[in-house]
Amino acid sequence: MKALKSYELRQKYLDFFASKGHSVIASASLIPENDPSVLFTTAGMHPLVPYLLGQKHPAGTRLCDVQKCVRTGDIDEVGDATHCTFFEMLGNWSLGDYFKKESIEFSFEFLTGVLGIPVDKIAVTVFAGDEDCPRDTYAAGVWESLGIAKDRIFYLPKENNWWYAGATGPCGSDTEIFIDTGKPACGEHCDPSCDCGKYVEIWNNVFMEFNRTKDGKFEPLAQKNVDTGMGLERTICMLGGLQSVYETDLFAHVIEQIAALCGKTYGADEQTTRAMRIIADHMRTATFMIGDENGIVPSNVDQGYVLRRLIRRSVRFAMQLGIDAARLSDIAQAYVDQYRAYYPELGANEQKIVGEVSKEVDKFAKTLDNGIREIEKVLRYVQGDTLNGKTAFRLYDTFGFPIEMTQEICREKGYGVDLDGYRNAFAEHQKKSQAGAEQKFKGGLADSGEQTTYLHTATHLLLASLKKVLGTDDIQQKGSNITAERLRFDFNFDRPLTDSEKQAVEAAVNNAIARDIPVVCEEMTVEQAREQHAVGVFGSRYGEIVKVYTIGDVDKQICGGPHAEHTGQLGRFRIVKEQSSSAGIRRIKAVLE
Ligand code: SER
Repeated sequence: MKALKSYELRQKYLDFFASKGHSVIASASLIPENDPSVLFTTAGMHPLVPYLLGQKHPAGTRLCDVQKCVRTGDIDEVGDATHCTFFEMLGNWSLGDYFKKESIEFSFEFLTGVLGIPVDKIAVTVFAGDEDCPRDTYAAGVWESLGIAKDRIFYLPKENNWWYAGATGPCGSDTEIFIDTGKPACGEHCDPSCDCGKYVEIWNNVFMEFNRTKDGKFEPLAQKNVDTGMGLERTICMLGGLQSVYETDLFAHVIEQIAALCGKTYGADEQTTRAMRIIADHMRTATFMIGDENGIVPSNVDQGYVLRRLIRRSVRFAMQLGIDAARLSDIAQAYVDQYRAYYPELGANEQKIVGEVSKEVDKFAKTLDNGIREIEKVLRYVQGDTLNGKTAFRLYDTFGFPIEMTQEICREKGYGVDLDGYRNAFAEHQKKSQAGAEQKFKGGLADSGEQTTYLHTATHLLLASLKKVLGTDDIQQKGSNITAERLRFDFNFDRPLTDSEKQAVEAAVNNAIARDIPVVCEEMTVEQAREQHAVGVFGSRYGEIVKVYTIGDVDKQICGGPHAEHTGQLGRFRIVKEQSSSAGIRRIKAVLE
């Protein structure tokens, strides 16, 4: 087993798969285009979904790349040995080309032949089988034929050995490859699914042969694909026999820089080590998010909110270490210099990266101390063990504390936070500021009498019906104006609707009304709303917690409301006019009778 630098592993990986007939493709953006279901690209397969579903890829049926990825699901785990919010994924794909046998053979040859990993350090898992897909004795047999001992092959259930691209879409069983660190097993049942640290996963080969449908069924895909992903950071760490990814060349110099800034020693104690790792991780992710080809800036919604949280959390840990937060932009600069050769977009956006980090740090560093003092003061008088929601909201509104940070600080001091109370205070505030905005912009929901409320619900049904009748999900609300008499709704579409289309849209809306479906309002984070495929109409007007209105299986939208309680209240829907509003935009006027 040879210790490698990150650039060596990237190159060896791409060279190896190129030698096996794979085309090397470029990393896609971190910010997915045309995919509202996720905030960030989380895996190499993500930008390839259409091709996994059967579309022809211009570079052929064998591909490989190094993909920038962000996973924010476990921000709280960052600081341990292996979790990063940003990472690079080495991936190779077969789009209806080779399947299990070759895929496993390629992986084995790369690991043992190119990287020199001894066979007895490798452990693998395969799918244990269930009613959707049989036990993968085939993959196990291939591993065995290559020399992996039987007791190093573990059969695990869907929970461990199945990969989904999203709630629906391509998926399949996988075989996962682990390095045995040599630590003693933590017990009789210790296997690679256990997190005691004996086994570290480095590679995942997914055998994508199913498409999961909306109703949870697994249908065979037209073509059988392979999708693999190897974590660059982890693999470098394992090859070097290092304690954590922060000791690899990808982080070591920044850790040194942080240590120099605070005059403390990395590894001296757990708290210091964790704080240094968090800053190193978060600032790297922030650098890539701002410097991306579809770069973002800190804000209160969607991706911008995640970025804001990462920078603000770095400020907090910098101050905890005694570092002047203004120096965080030096760390961003160090990452630009480190990565610019592989990711030229960072070099191209250098000023933007440093500038945005400085701006955000500046904004927050001023209020952080006051906010923390405020939390401490309130907690001194708090009855019980929970900080109330109003205070949590005040910390957000006045001091810019993301709710997750308030929770984290409270947790450290042994307190919880009343999240429901926070959401209520947030919604209350939103209602007030929305009322203001509505008066300013006129129209919209200025008159919230019963009739306008019903017409508002009708616009949701109308949007859903347009998508259904015109056969595309690509239709969006481009404008809406409601009076007590009628609704006016603009949407993108490039030709007039035919009479029969208009009738079909009316019928679809009236059908939803006839079904008398309850209209359900829930509050959730923008991220959750996206995960649930809610349609977001006015993106940036919303804060972190949003209302999502669901009308049965017909429609789900992020929306401020108000709405009817059930669709039966609406009466009969009729389109009065359908006309052009501007280039590529149609306008419908409709009434409820
Ligand atoms: N999609 C799989 C993963 O993310 C393999 O690339 O692990």
